[in-house]
Amino acid sequence: MSDVCNLAWWQKTIAYEVYPKSFLDTAGQGTGTIAGITARLDYLHSLGVGALWITPCYKSPMVDNGYDVQDYYAIDPSFGTMANMDELIERGREHGIRVVMDLVFNHTSNRCDWFVESSSSRNNDKADWYIWRDAREDGSAPTNWRSIFGGSAWEWCEERGQYYLHTFAKQQPDLNWECPEVRKALFDIANWWANKGVGGFRIDAITYIKKPPAFEDGPIDGEDGLSPIHDATANQAGILDYLHEFKASVRDGRDIFMVGEANGVDAKDLDQWVGDEGVFDMLFEFSHMHVPVGKAEIWCRPVTWKLTDLKRALGASQRATATNGWYPAFFENHDQPRSTVNFFRCDGPLAKKAKVLAAVLLSTRGTPFVYQGEELGYGNATWRSIDEFDDVQTRAQYEFALSEGLDEQAALAACARFSRDNARTPMQWDATRNAGATDGNPWLPVHDDYPTCNVAVQEGDPDSPLLWYRLLAALRTSHTELVAGDWRELLADDERILAFERTLGDRRSVTLANFSDEEAPYDTAVVAGLAPVAESQGPTTAGTLRPLEAVIWG
Ligand code: GLC
Repeated sequence: MSDVCNLAWWQKTIAYEVYPKSFLDTAGQGTGTIAGITARLDYLHSLGVGALWITPCYKSPMVDNGYDVQDYYAIDPSFGTMANMDELIERGREHGIRVVMDLVFNHTSNRCDWFVESSSSRNNDKADWYIWRDAREDGSAPTNWRSIFGGSAWEWCEERGQYYLHTFAKQQPDLNWECPEVRKALFDIANWWANKGVGGFRIDAITYIKKPPAFEDGPIDGEDGLSPIHDATANQAGILDYLHEFKASVRDGRDIFMVGEANGVDAKDLDQWVGDEGVFDMLFEFSHMHVPVGKAEIWCRPVTWKLTDLKRALGASQRATATNGWYPAFFENHDQPRSTVNFFRCDGPLAKKAKVLAAVLLSTRGTPFVYQGEELGYGNATWRSIDEFDDVQTRAQYEFALSEGLDEQAALAACARFSRDNARTPMQWDATRNAGATDGNPWLPVHDDYPTCNVAVQEGDPDSPLLWYRLLAALRTSHTELVAGDWRELLADDERILAFERTLGDRRSVTLANFSDEEAPYDTAVVAGLAPVAESQGPTTAGTLRPLEAVIWG
């Protein structure tokens, strides 16, 4: 059993993810700035936030909104300057909020100096910094791998007369971690940022850094004749050796945390990745995110699912981190559609759904990661045409859907349901023009519902998701079992209610969340001896949850 006193700062706090391009624009340019984040530190503080993950804001051509880094030591001018960043780190600390940088180390931008040099010839100093291969005899790509953003994962480079590998967009060439100079250059970057006083790192796409010993064709699974690169390259044997080196160089001896993005690691393998013997403090694994979309994440191939599928996935992650490591709880991030749409199969008000998810997120065991706007309960945006999307992956999924024989309307519907741009529309601060997020022309359309769903309106509404988040954040302080207690699933087979208890010494809380639009009876024995301490729809009745009601008993 843990005790709150024995936990690190990042285990006790709430983390919040900001997508800076859409948060708050202080320059009237249509995209957000770092100064905009600094201006909202009070707001973040009011949500109990102690760790602030900012998606990449380094100098970048922005093909993938910053996940294509040109210079890891510079801030992109669209976001401001390094002085703005230093100020955010400093002012954040004054608010008890530590900045968490996003390290994109699987790949760089093709405009990064490293790649420019590497691609210039076969015998320059950085010739083996990326993954280069000769063409097959007929001139075609070395393997049939499909990149995660669609199309071949290989791009021909005329200057070198070779192909290079890109797991993501062709403007994001994969680095060669086999090369010791590459590892050193990357660890230097992380140490440089750590020395600035950041509170930690989120490590992007880390399961792809180690390539297989032999590059071979994989089974074709679509009309494009390609095979998913993920199946050939994710989580290869030997990857942990590199990451132990990384941890020793960057993490050891510092009061920071590292959370890896680890698509391809199953809950059952978590103990090698996190905890005393692991390489990270926490790992974002995606078993629960795959429930509504399927493991292959092909948006035009719908999957059917039940609440017990979601419960099994969440339960497996909890059990895997029960005695070793720590769990980063999340329902949203900048790569996912809005959770109020993603995790419910019934109709009903989004605000009620948002409160159900928040009750689970903030009372389960682990550090909750809230994604900007999640606390307001947005739904997905309304998309009228494929041209309205900015995201490189959405465009690729659209083309793939057409190649699979879907008509334009069906392909658009699949993108509208799953697109990452749903999470990237401007933050809804108030009912003024462009939701108060920018005075310029917003880079993505502002959500239709912003006049009624925004921070200013919700601050005055006692039933709002925002005030529910604040209440739950406060509850974590008064009910220490919600932070440090053990976790045990209740009502495991129930298809309407997700339920668990948290226990710490003689303290006990029970979370009951009805994910359906029907009344959901339950055995009152599960809450015996407890009283409601947070009720999402006003005074509750023991033994029954109203449709989309969540209650924490303590
Ligand atoms: C990660 C990021 C995503 C990005 C990709 C490539 O999955 O979260 O936004 O597109 O890596 O860097």
